Amino acid sequence: QDDTDRALINIHDEVARLYHHILVNTKMGEPALRYLHQRGLTDDVINEFQLGFAPQANLVQSFLKEKQTPNDLLVKSGLFNENDRGELTDRFFNRVMYPIRNQSGQTIAFSGRVLDKTASQAKYLNSPETKIFSKRDVVFNLDKARIAAGVTKDLILFEGFMDVIAAFQAGVKNGIASMGTSFTSQQIRQIERATKHLLICYDGDEPGQKAINRAVDTLSDSRLKLGVIQMPSGVDPDEYRRQNGDEQFQKMIQTARETPITFKLRFLKLHRNLNREDERVAYLNDALNVIATIESPVGRDVYVNQLVDQFDVDKQSLLTQLNDLANKYQ
Ligand code: GTP
Ligand code: MN
Ligand code: MN
Ligand code: MN
Ligand code: MN
Repeated sequence: QDDTDRALINIHDEVARLYHHILVNTKMGEPALRYLHQRGLTDDVINEFQLGFAPQANLVQSFLKEKQTPNDLLVKSGLFNENDRGELTDRFFNRVMYPIRNQSGQTIAFSGRVLDKTASQAKYLNSPETKIFSKRDVVFNLDKARIAAGVTKDLILFEGFMDVIAAFQAGVKNGIASMGTSFTSQQIRQIERATKHLLICYDGDEPGQKAINRAVDTLSDSRLKLGVIQMPSGVDPDEYRRQNGDEQFQKMIQTARETPITFKLRFLKLHRNLNREDERVAYLNDALNVIATIESPVGRDVYVNQLVDQFDVDKQSLLTQLNDLANKYQ
């Protein structure tokens, strides 16, 4: 980190404190604070994540100018929009603010959420890429999660950072998230350095299921041992917690675990009518392709037996086909 990086981090630190102060201590922040309380967050967790509120006015600009911050730093911070005439306006206004930290716990960016989703703007607005913030490198909450992971060292990968915060509120403090992008190799390397076990817990909607499938594929080349935590259909972890409470949430995180293979075998059933013979055959072919990627013969046998039981097919023919496929994969 050079002088500019340090100055930019210092700006983010001060602005995070400003946003937080506005949220918890001022009249302007009241609607946002009510919103966060309605989402089931306590003041402790709001403080822990230093959540904040960016009000309507051009507040950050006057705040930083009062501190004699040089104009080129303001521009580099990503906290402002610049027009043709070089005039700056605050990038974030009327949004609940979530500080984004790097691995050392320094705030390097923000994500801001609209208070109500009916608004025409994007639900979340992130800082742009800056000298200190690259979205592809950030693993949300990794700095705290790796410490919280304790002896088991499991990390839980959520889809949204609100899910990380909701899990924390429920006492599950080892959650991380990417910034809404698909997973990058830089993020995987950081996670590999922090743990051997990663549990993927994405939203229970169709995009979430597709994203799990992609994440499992991307991560299968890594050294991480993977598991999937399956959400009930249609809800995300944050919604699950609000509907079922903290205790049930913890229990779900402990028990709703499956192997990536079991996930994939279920995923392949989506949008297939398995009462039809042709679709059943297509499913079995796809399923065998998944099973063929398992290295251990015993492991393969477990899943082949499941297919035999589910579809009342001849085990020997499955094994014959599996052997052909296994030769292809190994
Ligand atoms: P809430 O509606 O606040 O509960 O958010 P969520 O965590 O359920 O978000 P969702 O499942 O819609 O999306 C998951 C992640 O994708 C979020 O944490 C964001 O990082 C990202 N994301 C979602 N919507 C937007 C958007 O409009 N713009 C950007 N840049 N990212 C988004
Ligand atoms: Mn506080
Ligand atoms: Mn989602
Ligand atoms: Mn979600
Ligand atoms: Mn949500």
